[in-house]
Amino acid sequence: MSIQPATVLAALSADAAVSGSELAATLGVTRAAVWKQIEALRALGAPIEAAAGKGYRLTWAFEPLDATAIRAGMDPALRKRLGDPDIRWQVDSTSSTLLQNAASARDLSVCLAETQSAGRGRRGRDWVSPLGANVYFSLLKRFGAGMGALSGLSLVAGVALVQALTDCGVSEVGLKWPNDVLADGRKLAGILVELGGEFLGPCHAVIGIGINLRLPRNAKVGQPSIDAASLCGGAAPSRNRLIGRLLTRLVVALDRFEHEGFAGFREEFARCDLLAGHAVRVQASDGAHDGIAEGVDARGALRVRHGGIAAVYDSAEISVRGA
Ligand code: BTN
Repeated sequence: MSIQPATVLAALSADAAVSGSELAATLGVTRAAVWKQIEALRALGAPIEAAAGKGYRLTWAFEPLDATAIRAGMDPALRKRLGDPDIRWQVDSTSSTLLQNAASARDLSVCLAETQSAGRGRRGRDWVSPLGANVYFSLLKRFGAGMGALSGLSLVAGVALVQALTDCGVSEVGLKWPNDVLADGRKLAGILVELGGEFLGPCHAVIGIGINLRLPRNAKVGQPSIDAASLCGGAAPSRNRLIGRLLTRLVVALDRFEHEGFAGFREEFARCDLLAGHAVRVQASDGAHDGIAEGVDARGALRVRHGGIAAVYDSAEISVRGA
């Protein structure tokens, strides 16, 4: 008889080790079948330790993604508007899943996964997605007035994400333009916004958000990163509650964005802005330019002063000088 990896993971505990033969007896399969699934789970990044002579235990308690628990964390008015999130064990990318189904998907569709095999970051980078450890979240939002009205959308998503993290006790976080969530100078979460539909008419945005809740020590993330667990003294916030708060904050922000555009969020962004007043290097399409960051304009473009010249960037790679 075959067994699902999720079933094996659910049978493990962070409190006590459980031996391969106990697991096999509980799950009604052979020890070899258990071992095969444990190895497969580990390969996906699951936090399973082998305790010599005792069996397997989890490094920390696993909290599976759960639609009921997510809805419990949402504001009541929003629960009526949203359907159940589409929760997957593994997808290539939660954002790709929504983009592929965009033609038929309802407004505010949500896709979540325990792990992604091809998670995507900004600028063509990979987004490393170990199993069960973090949040991999995408939301599809429909807009009626064309893509031109969407400038600053990714900054608005960043503001909502900072609010949701703060709601869940992850404080001292801010935004590095356009939408990297940093704490202690390191990356805690990232946002990738992808657009589809008509340039001048009905269109949609898929807002993909990855949050590091518990980064495995050996995760190859390729940039200085931090997780919520270490910011909260080892106790990461509940994943399901954080997702419920994120949905609430995001949908409220998107409703406002449709009416006010980014201009209505300029002050909120300024409160989270980690670059303002700092010496930065702007890597733009025409080369590198040093200057002082001066916040964002009403469309969400970055303002940088280079000596006597004030420049505005819609898209660029920014690094803080001397950091
Ligand atoms: C960044 O580079 O900072 C953006 C990272 C966005 C990652 C998230 S994880 C959920 C969604 N699915 C993806 O493939 N990417 C986004």
